[in-house]
Amino acid sequence: MSAGVHGTAGGVPALRLAGPRPGWVIKADVVVVGSGVAGLTVALRCAAAGRRTVIVTKARLDDGSTRWAQGGIAAALGEGDTPEQHLVDTLVAGADLCDETAVRTLVTEGPGAVRRLIEVGARFDTSPETGEIELTREGGHHRRRIAHAGGDATGAEVSRALVAAVRDAGIETVENALVLDLLKDADGHAAGVSLHVMGEGRHDGVGAVHAPAVVLATGGMGQVFSATTNPAVSTGDGVALALRAGAEVSDLEFVQFHPTVLYLGAGSEGQQPLVSEAVRGEGAYLVDADGERFMVGRHELAELAPRDIVAKGIMRRMRERGADHMYLDARHFGARKWEERFPTILAACRSHGIDPVTEPIPVAPAAHYASGGVRTDLTGRTTVPGLYACGEVACTGVHGANRLASNSLLEGLVFAERIAERIARAPARVPVPVVPDAERIVPPLPPETRYAIQRIMTAGAGVLRSAESLERAARELEELAVDASGAPRVPDAPAASGKPAEPGVESWETANLHLVARVLVAAALRRTETRGCHWREDHPDRDDVSWRRHLVVALRPTAEGSTLVVRTTDSTAFPPVAPEETP
Ligand code: SIN
Repeated sequence: MSAGVHGTAGGVPALRLAGPRPGWVIKADVVVVGSGVAGLTVALRCAAAGRRTVIVTKARLDDGSTRWAQGGIAAALGEGDTPEQHLVDTLVAGADLCDETAVRTLVTEGPGAVRRLIEVGARFDTSPETGEIELTREGGHHRRRIAHAGGDATGAEVSRALVAAVRDAGIETVENALVLDLLKDADGHAAGVSLHVMGEGRHDGVGAVHAPAVVLATGGMGQVFSATTNPAVSTGDGVALALRAGAEVSDLEFVQFHPTVLYLGAGSEGQQPLVSEAVRGEGAYLVDADGERFMVGRHELAELAPRDIVAKGIMRRMRERGADHMYLDARHFGARKWEERFPTILAACRSHGIDPVTEPIPVAPAAHYASGGVRTDLTGRTTVPGLYACGEVACTGVHGANRLASNSLLEGLVFAERIAERIARAPARVPVPVVPDAERIVPPLPPETRYAIQRIMTAGAGVLRSAESLERAARELEELAVDASGAPRVPDAPAASGKPAEPGVESWETANLHLVARVLVAAALRRTETRGCHWREDHPDRDDVSWRRHLVVALRPTAEGSTLVVRTTDSTAFPPVAPEETP
């Protein structure tokens, strides 16, 4: 038995990634995994409440998805706007699958949360005339409601302010650390995490943070597809950890494809530059190669329809024209507006040889945001006591079948504050992690398998899906699993070596991607309708009779390894899911 991990768990089977046992330990009251808006906000608040807080982050403190957010933060801050109007727009975008109580919480607590973010130090763009926060529009919003910073660099400013506050508060951080698995005590309550620190430092190799409260704020899983707006770190680690720990996940089939991602050519892979919806909010329009606007007449809001509708409109026109991209035309902004309002996008386009001042921008949809995630109640509790989730990794019920633009930073803020409040009220508990008697080791996958996963997912579970494409994806993902001899069956790969992959950061990330891909495909296959960002070619209509429901998936250990258990639940039923007395 290794340092700091004591006792046994009475035969409770558990799943964990293959790898060494922790060789070092940090003790804390709260461990926050992830350093975007949600993670840093929880950490700041827990530390302010006197809880010893440790942040574990995969790269550097400012390297998560938050800093890539362009458009801004949606909140009813403008004159004449109300939380009720924000609620209605959110429910409509969510295609009748949002949890109304969660949305009401978001929109009513949102304006205060944004003001508190300003108190922490975030500087939003203000009107030179009135000094008030400038607000823009994005898809699905019937009002100007989006606060922005640095023109189109909102996430970078939010990240800057929160990172500075975390450093000022002296919160302990472990950077370059991939979280591996949840540690539990003998009661099945969270007791910390195991993690692997990359590179040399005070801690390196596999270690652990022992804490009775574990907050997942690990962001998204966009890297499960070939082309995404997400950074390389978005490999679904939080969702995979939660699944192995026995937590439920929900709504994973609802992957939002951002309609306007800079098109860099057929076969472009990895993180692709975003062209914010705010560009359309300020008057840019979508055209085909003949310059014809194709969103007009398809929806009352035309280019500013909810994101799923615009993505579908682009895909349909691409099919009609046999094209692999469309165009966003904002030449009429002129050079000055481009430079002042959208400097980040202007620079990204120009670095790829496109000048939006003089030519339309080639765009195509790419994976952008996971509307689903680890299922939580309104205080961020998951179905595993002591394990919380917030931000993109979580499914609070706020987004339904399609997240409303710029609600994500807001959700991160609001639910982070709620989690911190909950943890501050919780009775003290000493974390005593145990090694379960019966463990199922999840084998690492060879790093090169990642590209096969991405290709399978893009072909079979992308913007447009069908039973045939999803069944093929499910089969191919299954075939990637390591067989009994440890040899992966990678299509088109050289003959299997017969040796299992070595545990390591890339092979653990690949195992995480493989698990979230399996769950996503299982849910997408089950949902035989088209709703929000889940678009089924073979079931083109929405089916409110059978499918105004959520799909909830859990991973259960079996004698051979593990199996996915899928069930449905009412769209309105999102009750507290963990026992009341747990912190
Ligand atoms: C954008 O700026 O278009 C993205 C904002 C978001 O994803 O909410």
